[in-house]
Amino acid sequence: MYKPIEIAKGVFSVGCRDWDIRDFHGYSTYEGTTYNAFLVLGEKNVLIDTVKEHFGDELLANISKIIDPKLIDIVISNHTEMDHSGSIPKLMHKIGEDKPIYCSKMGAKNIEAHFNRKFNFQVVGTGDTLKIGNRTFSFLDTKMLHWPDSMFTYLAEEAILFSSDAFGQHYAGDMFFDDEIGDEIMPHARKYYANILLHFSPRVQALLKDVAKLNLKIDMICPDHGIIWRDNPSKIIDAYDTWSRQEPTRKVVIIFDSMWESTAKMARAITSGVESEDVNVRLMNTRKWHRSDIMTEILDAGAIAVGSPTLNNNIFPVIADVMTYIKGLRPQNKIVAAFGSYGWSGEAVKILNKDFEEMKLTIIDPGVKIQYVPDEADLERCFELGVKLAKTLKEKLS
Ligand code: FEO
Repeated sequence: MYKPIEIAKGVFSVGCRDWDIRDFHGYSTYEGTTYNAFLVLGEKNVLIDTVKEHFGDELLANISKIIDPKLIDIVISNHTEMDHSGSIPKLMHKIGEDKPIYCSKMGAKNIEAHFNRKFNFQVVGTGDTLKIGNRTFSFLDTKMLHWPDSMFTYLAEEAILFSSDAFGQHYAGDMFFDDEIGDEIMPHARKYYANILLHFSPRVQALLKDVAKLNLKIDMICPDHGIIWRDNPSKIIDAYDTWSRQEPTRKVVIIFDSMWESTAKMARAITSGVESEDVNVRLMNTRKWHRSDIMTEILDAGAIAVGSPTLNNNIFPVIADVMTYIKGLRPQNKIVAAFGSYGWSGEAVKILNKDFEEMKLTIIDPGVKIQYVPDEADLERCFELGVKLAKTLKEKLS
């Protein structure tokens, strides 16, 4: 159970911790996650977001530790993905089906589509406010961060930004706030950005500019996952600015799978070539590394090399999995090269190059193909590919 805590006067965190989840639609959540929801007490009581369906009873139990859930007057739904909307039907049944749900236009559409029923939707967008007694809730449309319905809610008097998925982390530890966990949270936030928001980086840049123009005082950022930023909210805002710029760093990520160790030998030779140029390198065997951890390393890499043996005239299934995942998240501003061993047809390098072209990444070499087992000369070619990747990257960064 999650112990509700008062995070500001009359504002409570009442969500749930999911200690067990290890796969969040393809993202490895080694430390579980939380589904945060926030209860704001006042002349009218407001609940911001709900939790995954099977945590619905727990949410109601948490709220009951503070007030009778029937005393909730208004629900705000910042985001309708089911980890935040799944328990809306149970909640509304408990508090009264006709109570208003404030959400974006797409939010109303989504909730209706998810549950095949209408509620008392109050559609809001950027510039709309809801004044209740001495509390003012303002809404900010954050379309495609990361769903069409996404929005933020800002509670002016407490200077709290309820940011939905943005600024979150999949982390279900024993702490609630950034100052309790310190820098240990940043790798979780970075992984979350790389795997959920990278695709929408141009929107993140635009949103950060919009928020700066609004000149909002932000004392606390409450995302729907993970810890609350209260000590230094600008730390995560600055990190989002950096990550969304997708500026390359002096780092090469080499991703490979191997059938009979030939492509593995090639990957190691390329790694040595990169190292010989004093450029940082990460060698990632797709049988050992989860796709979401590979994606996290790609976030700030300046170069990527991908190696696959040819199997049945195609790339290896695990490489296809990783490439599909990377493609969807649209990393930009990287130089790339392909490599791989083959027996008789050798299509893998060609297929990988086609993937790179579709991703609009810069291919710096046609790629290295080696039949069966690499000999010394072959490994030297791989070493030289590593050198070329490193040198090209250094030139680009100079
Ligand atoms: Fe945490 Fe987009 O849901």
